[in-house]
Amino acid sequence: MQRIFSGVQPTGNLHLGNYLGAIRNWVRLQNDYECIFCMVDLHAITVWQEPDQLRSNTREVAAAMIASGVDPENNIIFNQSQVPQHAELAWIFNCVARLGWLDRMTQFKEKAGKDKERASVGLYAYPNLMAADILVYKATHVPVGEDQKQHLELCRDIAQKFNHDYEEDFFPIVEPLIFGEATRVMSLRDGTSKMSKSDASDASRINMTDDVDTITKKIRRARTDAEPLPMEVAGLKGRAEAANLVGIYAALNDSSSAQVLAEFGGQGFGVFKPALADLAVDKLATIQDEMRRLMADPAHVDGIIRSGAEKARAIAEPILREVHNKIGILQP
Ligand code: TYM
Repeated sequence: MQRIFSGVQPTGNLHLGNYLGAIRNWVRLQNDYECIFCMVDLHAITVWQEPDQLRSNTREVAAAMIASGVDPENNIIFNQSQVPQHAELAWIFNCVARLGWLDRMTQFKEKAGKDKERASVGLYAYPNLMAADILVYKATHVPVGEDQKQHLELCRDIAQKFNHDYEEDFFPIVEPLIFGEATRVMSLRDGTSKMSKSDASDASRINMTDDVDTITKKIRRARTDAEPLPMEVAGLKGRAEAANLVGIYAALNDSSSAQVLAEFGGQGFGVFKPALADLAVDKLATIQDEMRRLMADPAHVDGIIRSGAEKARAIAEPILREVHNKIGILQP
């Protein structure tokens, strides 16, 4: 069986983009692959995190995965730091990846902003840790949203260089799995920027923990143009906000943008937005109930994470030992 690895940063504000672009796809893949899903706390601390918040956000992401339908019995769910082999392999990859490769990473440029001198070294080396997350399990497939594509290309470059340097097909060249109608969910306030946990405006995203009123209000106030919806997908060209809302509807409803337009084409947002709000509330309600139930019993969630970490360590340990042998690191 082929192996999947994917991760979410426990930085709070888990949103509809994370769900539609990633977690929901994991649920669909879990029976066809051996799956390892991770709360990447070491990635989270590349920017400042309040310690108590980090702890509870880590549990919340685990709860969201389980509540969305990831089965914790048959899949591995854990937080990165409980498996020290991630950080160890990341250091080795710091010595494999070239500065020029990291200099090209657009996410670093976006996150570091104008004052990159003040960004943490961890933020810069972030993609090397991500490659280590995947390759410490020799995972073959990585289901993610569109925004992680460049990082996965770097992961392939690292595997290729390592394989070349040590003369063997040791690491797999991973395949990204980017699919569905919502591979890049955009902000509700600006159709040209992606929905993001770190957007200063809470109105820009639908959080997995938003209540009915909040979801309804955010969708009602979502930015749009004044035109009715087109009859065909081609008519969404140049209408980023409309395309985004139609894509969200399609993804939530397991249909396609074409099908959504077959139903709503010619209608205005006065009709479409309330329908979208009802659908979002309906689809998220069961997940939210289950998340609340899980969050009320943190010891249970911690138990799932602990046992996931044990299983993950059992896979990662021998692979890292092989890496050490290849490099020539003296083993006891
Ligand atoms: P993160 O925590 O930003 O996002 C988690 C997952 O959600 C997807 N995603 C989106 N999909 C569609 N529309 C959006 N607006 C949107 N925003 C986020 C992301 O693509 C991701 O799949 N670097 C990763 C975490 C990570 C990882 C890994 C992923 C660390 N190590 C190894 C895969 C494999 C990140 O920051 O995801």
